[in-house]
Amino acid sequence: MTDLMQKIVSFSKRRGFIFLSSEIYGGFGSCYDFGPLGVEMKNNIKKAWWDEMIKKHNDIVGLDAAILMSPKVWQASGHLTAGFADELVECKSCHHRFRKDFLKGSKCPDCGGILTKPKKFNLMMKTFVGPVEDEAAATYLRAETCQGIYVNFKNVLQTMRLKIPFGIAQIGKAFRNEINPKDFIYRTREFEQMEMQWFCEPKTAPKLFDYWKKERLNWYLNLGIKKENLRIREVPKKELAHYARKASDIEYKFPFGWQEVEGIHNRGDWDLSNHSKHSGEDLEYYDEETREKYFPHIIETSVGVDRSLFAFLCDAYQEVKGGRTKTTESAKEIEVLLRLHKSLAPIKVAILPLVKNKPKLVKKAKKVYQMLKPYFMCQYDEVGSIGRRYRRQDEIGTIYCLTCDFETLKRDDLTIRVRDTMKQERVKIKDLVKVLKEKINE
Ligand code: GAP
Repeated sequence: MTDLMQKIVSFSKRRGFIFLSSEIYGGFGSCYDFGPLGVEMKNNIKKAWWDEMIKKHNDIVGLDAAILMSPKVWQASGHLTAGFADELVECKSCHHRFRKDFLKGSKCPDCGGILTKPKKFNLMMKTFVGPVEDEAAATYLRAETCQGIYVNFKNVLQTMRLKIPFGIAQIGKAFRNEINPKDFIYRTREFEQMEMQWFCEPKTAPKLFDYWKKERLNWYLNLGIKKENLRIREVPKKELAHYARKASDIEYKFPFGWQEVEGIHNRGDWDLSNHSKHSGEDLEYYDEETREKYFPHIIETSVGVDRSLFAFLCDAYQEVKGGRTKTTESAKEIEVLLRLHKSLAPIKVAILPLVKNKPKLVKKAKKVYQMLKPYFMCQYDEVGSIGRRYRRQDEIGTIYCLTCDFETLKRDDLTIRVRDTMKQERVKIKDLVKVLKEKINE
């Protein structure tokens, strides 16, 4: 693990962002839990994506389909066949298993032993529905959320009286029995996806593919990811997923190298035509103007919530040697600053009494906290020197620190300190909600 990666993993745990799942039992299968700050940040990412899709764009509607679906869905989608399988090799000595495409040499990376010939390993997670564990009761946890969108294509089209082109957006959990989950939350067996499927006329698909590529890249830039840490990779034909005619990945420069955060796919008519064939339901679209009937083509944008959170965390994480807040004991000490975008920061406002042994100050600060809580994610903190408290808030990316000092008691105002500039200004308590709303949304 790289030094930076190690720092981010331990920071994520120390400050309540990400914990190892079932940690008291030694962890479980590379699963992770999101702590109090992690879940706030995750919800903020999901809201930013949902607003982008549903509010910013016309003609995109939402959906929340079930995780468990008829196994026939996965037969039709091609996920139960070789299309959704990785090549697995096993070490003949230590019996560790690896994804073949992740290996650098031809020997076992753990013990140097000889590896078996690769065999296909399907990534679908199998489960049973009902009390009898036989093949008739078997189904799968969804491996991608979009299949729930395809099987509801007709329902949504008819109930919402939509016309092509239009999109359906969904956020939800997906599961893959990854051979080598790795790199913290980068590749896990349980993760969340934010997927949008844009249904369009076949001849318009190539242009729309380029349109969505740009739109999606801008989403990350607008949420503060540094331009130099993002790039688009055109996926070569031999690497395309079984459903894709064309694909581009948005890649982020993680501490362990450039890796995909989001895939944009031209899925052609693969999904609707296959579901039509297997279900017997006519999923073609009839265009009343041109009197043409066709399977709409699909441009898909697909991003992992967890993976994008990881990218946002890495990008925002900054260490300041010697300290900005002048509370460090030596020039060698390091302060962490999490420069998250305002909309993604888990805590927007911290309320701090200047000192905690003055009951009037504490009472006033607690009153301000109660006043602001319904409007913003707030934290109240009275423990330690004011400098240390600023430092703790900077570390988790809190945008504004509000300090109640002795002037507050006389003038009913307080100081607002800005995370990135450390500049302070005084604001009347009666104006706080309005001022903070303006600042946070500006
Ligand atoms: N519906 C298309 C689809 O699922 P994908 O490229 O396999 O395409 C899309 O996955 C996104 O989902 C990825 O870019 C990544 O952000 C996320 N993702 C996929 N597998 C993941 C895993 N094992 N762990 C975490 N995130 C994953």
